[in-house]
Amino acid sequence: MERTDRAERLKERVGLEAAKMVTDGAIVGLGTGSTVAPAIAELGRRVREEGLEIIGIPTSYQAAMLARASGITTRTLDDVSRIDIAIDGADEVDPDKNLIKGRGAAHTREKVVDSWAELFVVVVDDSKLVRHLGEKFPVPVEVLPFAVHPVMKKLQAMGGDPELRVGVRKDGPVITDQGNMIIDVRFPEIKDPKALEARLNNIPGVVENGLFVGLAHLVLVGTEEEGEKLTVRRIE
Ligand code: 5RP
Repeated sequence: MERTDRAERLKERVGLEAAKMVTDGAIVGLGTGSTVAPAIAELGRRVREEGLEIIGIPTSYQAAMLARASGITTRTLDDVSRIDIAIDGADEVDPDKNLIKGRGAAHTREKVVDSWAELFVVVVDDSKLVRHLGEKFPVPVEVLPFAVHPVMKKLQAMGGDPELRVGVRKDGPVITDQGNMIIDVRFPEIKDPKALEARLNNIPGVVENGLFVGLAHLVLVGTEEEGEKLTVRRIE
């Protein structure tokens, strides 16, 4: 219970901090997940109460629904010629600001939006910091349903341990917002995330993988030591 409360407090705090960085007129990439949700809610509050004018570019159905419920105008990538700032969560962050994303199966759209942003801000609590990517999380790989079997074989041949992601409150495989499937792959060690990212995307049938290498400009880390004040650390 205590652990959950702490995580919720940290998410709320980094979300608010990220939302403060958004200025009037900005086109904002809206990431997916529980850490971005408070940021979207706060942006909505600023729109309603402070008259902030922004356009949100959602990275998933979840982000689109949260944005609409918060009163944020949304558009698609076809409607805009730039993204000023993107705010998104992560599952792991290494000391070079490289990420694993995709626990929410939204990494394909997230990578398009986040990589296009002038400023890509990652919001996490301190449990997401790792020394090496892959320490805790597998790498999610979005795959055309037609290609799941051969892609699994290729991932095994690369030394990975692939597992098709199945639903929690749905029987059978998780289907992404694009209608594809997700293979979660554990690797014994990820020495060169940039090379692995390229190798994975080079497998025919792979749509996108959850390694985000060299994309994040700033990471906001919510942290709270025992008995200490809650703070947000910046990794630039
Ligand atoms: C979704 C993602 C999320 O941003 C990532 O999983 C972090 O989520 P949370 O903030 O809920 O821990 O990549 O595909």
